[in-house]
Amino acid sequence: MRAVDLIQKKRDGGELSREEIAFLIQGYSKGEIPDYQISAWAMAVYFRGMNARETGDLTLEMAMSGDQVDLSPIAGIKVDKHSTGGVGDKTTVVLAPLVAAAGVPVAKMSGRGLGHTGGTLDKLESITGFSVEMDRERFFTQVGEIGAAVIGQSGNITPADKKLYALRDVTATVESIPLIASSVMSKKIAAGADAIVLDVKTGSGAFMKTLDDSIALAQAMVDIGTHLGRNTVAVISDMDQPLGFGIGNALEIKEGIETLNGHGPKDLQEVCLILGSQMLVLGGKAKDEQEARSILLSHINDGSALDKFKQMVSAQGGDATQIESPDTLPTARKFIEVKAATAGYVESIQAEEIGVAAMLLGAGRETKESVIDLAVGIQLAIKVGDAVAAGDTLAVLHVNDASESKVQEAEAKVLEAYRISAQPVPPQPLVFALVTKDGVTRY
Ligand code: URA
Repeated sequence: MRAVDLIQKKRDGGELSREEIAFLIQGYSKGEIPDYQISAWAMAVYFRGMNARETGDLTLEMAMSGDQVDLSPIAGIKVDKHSTGGVGDKTTVVLAPLVAAAGVPVAKMSGRGLGHTGGTLDKLESITGFSVEMDRERFFTQVGEIGAAVIGQSGNITPADKKLYALRDVTATVESIPLIASSVMSKKIAAGADAIVLDVKTGSGAFMKTLDDSIALAQAMVDIGTHLGRNTVAVISDMDQPLGFGIGNALEIKEGIETLNGHGPKDLQEVCLILGSQMLVLGGKAKDEQEARSILLSHINDGSALDKFKQMVSAQGGDATQIESPDTLPTARKFIEVKAATAGYVESIQAEEIGVAAMLLGAGRETKESVIDLAVGIQLAIKVGDAVAAGDTLAVLHVNDASESKVQEAEAKVLEAYRISAQPVPPQPLVFALVTKDGVTRY
C-alpha cells in the first residue's frame, strides 16, 4: 500500500477500506508517513467527506492508538459528557457532582484550555489545593466511594488524534464533520464510558455556525457511538452568547457553585438540567427526561448536589471551605467597567471575542507554555434580549497584571462583541434539538 494512492483515491471521491485507514493512521503515528501526505489526505477528506463506515473505522483506529481505560471496576453505568467547546461553559463543574448526587457515577477525564479561557482542569485548580492528577486506582476508588472524580488525561490516550489534530489546526482542515466527529469520539471511546452525552454548540462562538451543520456533526457522533456499542445522544445548544455571566477560571467556579446552590444564571441552570437529564436517563436512574429533571432539581434544592461537590473537592485535596465561602477563591485586584456607546437591545454577544478578551487579561493560554491567572476574566452584566442605555455597563473586566495595551485591547473586544439592535430582541432558544439513534427532535 502507498499513501499517495490512498490520497488520490480520497481526492477522487473514493471510499477507503478499514485496512487503508489503518495503514494511514498507524503509519502516521509511527512517523512512517510524513505530515505533508497526511495533510493532503485530510484536505481530501475535507472536500470529499467520509461515509459512516469510514468515520467509524477512523475513530476506532485513533481510539486504539494508545491506552484504553477500562472503567469496569466501577459499578453502574458510567456516563460521560462532552462539550464541543464554548465560552463560559462550566457545565462539567456543575454536572459531575449533580449527576453523582443522583446516583450516576462520573469518572471524568478533562482537558486544559488552549486559547480563549482555561479548560475544566484550570477552572477546578482555582480551588486551593485541588489536584487533577491521580493514579488509576485512586481514580476508581474515589468514583466508587463518592461517585465523581474529574482528573486530567493521564497516560497515553489517543496519541494518533493528538498528532492529527495538531496538524489539522495548521492546515485549515479542522472544520470537517467526519474529522471532528472521529476526533471527539475516539477520545470518548478510549476513556471507557458506557454511554455518552454530547453538547454540540451552535452559533457564532462554536465550530459549527449553523444549526444544520451542528445537527450533521451530532448525527455523525451519535452514529459512531451507536455502532461502537455506546449509547450516545447529543443536545444542540446555543453559543451565540457565552453561557452564564462569568468567563475566567475562578469566576466560573463561583458561578458553578451558585448553580449547585440553585441561584445560578437561568441559561446555565437550564443547559445543566437538560444535559444532566440525558445523563440520568442513559445511566438508568430515570425513565424519562421529566423524571430526571425533577430528581436533579431535588438534589439542588436539598443541598446534596453542593455537598457532593464539597466531597469531591476534599477527596482531590481541595479546600472545601471555599465552596461555602466563594469569596475566598482567587479574586482580581482591579475592576474595569465596559460601557455601552449606544442604546438599544442586546442582539448577540460574539462568544469568541469575549473568550479572546478574557485570554488577553490572562484567563486563557496564548501558547501551551503560558501561565494563566485564575482570578482574572470578564463578568458580563447584561445578556441577549436585555435593554441597554448609552453609558450602561455591559461587562466588567477583572484585571491583575495585564499590560495597559492588553486591557485596552480586551475592552475593545468586549465592546465589539456586543451587537446592539435598535429593535427589541425576542427571547432566543437555548437548546435547538436532541439527536439520538432514533433521529432528530427539533425544539
Ligand atoms: N475537538 C476535538 O477534540 N477534535 C476536533 O477535531 C475538534 C474539536
